[in-house]
Amino acid sequence: MKGIVFTEFLEMVETQFGLEVVEDIIEKADLPSEGIYTSVGTYDFNEMVSLITELSKQVNLPPGDLIYAFGRYLFTSLKDAHPEVIQSYNSPLGLLYSIEDHIHVHVQKLYPEAELPTFKILEKTDTTISMIYSSSRGLYRLAQGLIEKAFEHFNGSAQISYELLKEDGTEVKFDISQNG
Ligand code: HEM
Repeated sequence: MKGIVFTEFLEMVETQFGLEVVEDIIEKADLPSEGIYTSVGTYDFNEMVSLITELSKQVNLPPGDLIYAFGRYLFTSLKDAHPEVIQSYNSPLGLLYSIEDHIHVHVQKLYPEAELPTFKILEKTDTTISMIYSSSRGLYRLAQGLIEKAFEHFNGSAQISYELLKEDGTEVKFDISQNG
């Protein structure tokens, strides 16, 4: 997993829960990197799992809720770090439709070691989109937060529902319907 994901995660934790919590979860997670990340480095995904597990214990919130909140935070971080990646889109549904074939293709060029999920579009109308998230990392709640923020980026909102096609969250169907 790319370092930018770790640095942004720790920044969110610091903002929401304070520096002491950051230091505490890094210590308890017993990380090979010792919690020292650079945005262009690449680190074992298990380090993220450990950090989220420790944060969940520390703040007494479910891991999924923390991952979802991080997805919302991460959208803004990625947008600020790489504005050119989303500049050409003028609607949230257009942006979502292009994750697989354009956005993450671009991301793979920026970060050759990135391990990205796949999104298979099942159906798209003027106001809705259905797609299947697949990834061995099972970060579908991260996807939910990112999707929600994509609508807010265009000053909109949406009903976002999801259904686990595999119990471990490695395959999840999203049904998204734009409000208004
Ligand atoms: C709403 C739109 C987007 C969605 C739903 C989405 C979804 C995701 C998800 C769920 C992951 C976690 C990895 C996994 O599940 O296997 C991920 C990783 C990533 N995405 Fe996206 N993404 C979106 C837009 C973007 C944009 C606009 C950028 C860059 C400007 C971006 C850059 C990245 C990067 C750098 C990673 C980390 C890859 C790694 O650590 O190896 N994504 N994305």
